[in-house]
Amino acid sequence: MKYSIKAGAADKINSECAIVFVWAKGILSDEATLLDASTNKAISNVVATGDFSGELAETMLLHQLQGLSAKRVLLVGAGLETKFDAKSAIKAIRAAYQVTQKLAATSLHFAIASVTVTDRDSNWLTARVAEEGESSYYRYTATKSKNPKAPATKTVSVSPINGGRRKSLDSALKRGFAIGKAINVAKELGNLPANVCTPTYLAEQAKQLGEKNKSITTQILGEKQMLRLGMGSLLSVSAGSAEEAKFIIMQYKGAKSDSRPYAIVGKGVTFDTGGISLKAGNGMDEMKYDMCGAASVIATMGCVAELKLPINVVGIVGAVENMPGSKATKPGDIVTSMSGLTIEILNTDAEGRLVLCDALTYTERFNPRSVIDIATLTGAAVATFGSHVSALLSNDDDLANEIINCGTDCVDPAWQLPMWDEYQPLLNSNFADIANIGGPRAGTITAACFLSRFTEKFAWAHLDIAGSAWISGQAKGSTGRPVPLLVEYLNNQKA
Ligand code: BES
Ligand code: MN
Ligand code: ZN
Repeated sequence: MKYSIKAGAADKINSECAIVFVWAKGILSDEATLLDASTNKAISNVVATGDFSGELAETMLLHQLQGLSAKRVLLVGAGLETKFDAKSAIKAIRAAYQVTQKLAATSLHFAIASVTVTDRDSNWLTARVAEEGESSYYRYTATKSKNPKAPATKTVSVSPINGGRRKSLDSALKRGFAIGKAINVAKELGNLPANVCTPTYLAEQAKQLGEKNKSITTQILGEKQMLRLGMGSLLSVSAGSAEEAKFIIMQYKGAKSDSRPYAIVGKGVTFDTGGISLKAGNGMDEMKYDMCGAASVIATMGCVAELKLPINVVGIVGAVENMPGSKATKPGDIVTSMSGLTIEILNTDAEGRLVLCDALTYTERFNPRSVIDIATLTGAAVATFGSHVSALLSNDDDLANEIINCGTDCVDPAWQLPMWDEYQPLLNSNFADIANIGGPRAGTITAACFLSRFTEKFAWAHLDIAGSAWISGQAKGSTGRPVPLLVEYLNNQKA
């Protein structure tokens, strides 16, 4: 969809659907008041019937109002004006798009110039209209033979929000649009089945990113090259698979070439059967989502290039398929990681950390300012946090706090768990330097403790997105998280 800022009186703007907010108890926003006045009280009459109260996320579509340039009016409940915060704003915007995507209207206009979000500025609200528009209109069609009718909406305009400067509103809209598109890139990669989205497919997507963006250079390593680098840990995960593992390096240059980069590292297990430590059958299809960390890295790199951020960023992905087979790694096998540390693989289902440890060691060569890894790493993260928040563990409190704040700002939250030394002995092994599991308790923490052995040389944070990256059940699908958080973080950095 196309997004623009369009100034003018709400009743005079041409669009196929004007969207206005109504506050709780039927209090009309300034724009709704204006439409009401030019339609001979059509809106206040509806409110007077008691059918529409302005409760948050309530919607009502009005047709054939006389005296307006807009064909339809969508009333959106926004709740109490004094409580209209970022989370409420997102709910109201989403509710609006839920209705408009089913309409034949090709153009929408958000008449919300007077609307203030209690804890955000006008740029934030403007950006969010575009971000939510893109992400709510996402549909998965890639592997369906009959595609459902595409939504009709082609253009979305937003009134210049009071107090906002035109230039910054324009760039906010662009930023929101870019983030929305990146969320959808991550969703699509996540939703594609594992027989399509293989390690080779992920590598191909990363290559295309390099071809489309002058600022991105992509390099792909195959198994032979990884063997030469000594990535015995990563390679042990793909040993049982017929799909070749791929190591993906994407370098974005937005600053001088000697400016130290920020690194993001994704777990790209395109399917996780558990390997010889085979998973139970129920719901195993969802292990196609075990590459959502990788998807978020690829999508974020594309977004960073589109936004032309004035920093350098390295995106790294370890892409593998975790399968049982005659060549598969067995419980008790010991491998040597790229760092030189030997690892006793007590459970082949704890494979994500085996991929990430070599990817993190590789990342050292970029002398990064910070490293964030993103991984669907532990079922324990789902048990701890459910789906609303990503688990965050870090060896650097400043970095952790910055990420927490970014998550709050863009409403893609992360929350920290302690990665204390007391947990480290759980990883002791009688036969190697370290074991790949720490027993049944504190699973998210021991997984991070394992990674911490490979990240001593830089400021590092780990995001366990096992709960936040996709939704199970009827609405099964990838969420595109934590792309908003990663973009927010990178957007805040300096060269
Ligand atoms: N990809 C899974 C984690 C996962 C499980 C994410 C379920 C979302 C839902 C990971 O590779 C895994 O299997 N982790 C094991 C680790 C255990 C063997 C120490 C887990 O969490 O059970
Ligand atoms: Mn696993
Ligand atoms: Zn996994």
